[in-house]
Amino acid sequence: MNSAPDNTRIVVLGTGGTIAGTAASPDDVVGYRAGQIGIETLLAGVSRPPGTRFEAEQVAQIDSKDMTHAIWQTLAQRVAHHLARPEVVGIVVTHGTDTLEETAWFLQRVLAPGKPVVLTGAMRPATAREADGPQNLSDAITLAREPGLSGVLAVLAGSVHDACDVRKANPLRQDDAFASGEAGPLGVIGAGRLRWLRLRGDAAGSVAWAVPSGRPASFSHPALSLPAADWPRVEILTSHAGATGALVRALCAQGIDGIVVAATGNGAVHRELQDALVVAQSAGVVVLCTPRSGVGRAHPQAIDRLPMVDGLTPAKARVELMLRLMERAGA
Ligand code: SIN
Repeated sequence: MNSAPDNTRIVVLGTGGTIAGTAASPDDVVGYRAGQIGIETLLAGVSRPPGTRFEAEQVAQIDSKDMTHAIWQTLAQRVAHHLARPEVVGIVVTHGTDTLEETAWFLQRVLAPGKPVVLTGAMRPATAREADGPQNLSDAITLAREPGLSGVLAVLAGSVHDACDVRKANPLRQDDAFASGEAGPLGVIGAGRLRWLRLRGDAAGSVAWAVPSGRPASFSHPALSLPAADWPRVEILTSHAGATGALVRALCAQGIDGIVVAATGNGAVHRELQDALVVAQSAGVVVLCTPRSGVGRAHPQAIDRLPMVDGLTPAKARVELMLRLMERAGA
């Protein structure tokens, strides 16, 4: 198996999720436990292309709803470590689908990798009669071997997504569990063949949120070294009918660093909530709004009293704000 020259390696990092989940019966696709099967075993279950060596490493073994900043930091450190090895051509990360989009954006922003880092998961546990994990893992390997590719991507159900755009779009359905909003998927993989559907770079993430120019690709983002317990605290609040400023005031009393607002419509915020946020802002809390619809791009207006982030779901905007606060503190 490992007779290939030592200059092409794929590293597969396991973090748990349904792809590593087990249920008592092959018909049970909801009452299972995520994060049970080791990454070596998952990797052994898929056919691997000849001419490439594989390494597996278990970084975590969790249900991704329980993802922590400490695990994110360890994952980013391990990805950075392997990316720096010249023989490694790409990295695959197996992950629960619940927070996959947040991890994808976190890794893209912290590492801006010059090689492919491909996240994948599954909607059905590994013990299911028609488990989707093996095909998704196999597609992720295809993508990670793609010459000339860079950045963080996700592949599920044969669709390739940019880290900026990808989001979980359906809680149960297998084929359309993930989507890329208005941007659409970057490409599709079928029968081991990759076909691109659009160019990267038209999405907010690839352009607006690129690593600041001039920063060397030396993996020096503070999220790699600052103890996770010291990361800025950023919470998400939602604007809705009957919203008030009570939660903003409570968070400010606790010393919150940033608040992301899942706003209505084109970035609108309930008057009472907005008034409290403006007060919080003047006290030094950084506020960022993003449409709660999650799909479609907002059009900021000059009269907006609160800044908007474009093209990121509220969960990704929280990651974005946390990282910006770290960058600002470290500048
Ligand atoms: C998880 O996110 O770890 C569980 C759900 C899934 O992977 O689909």
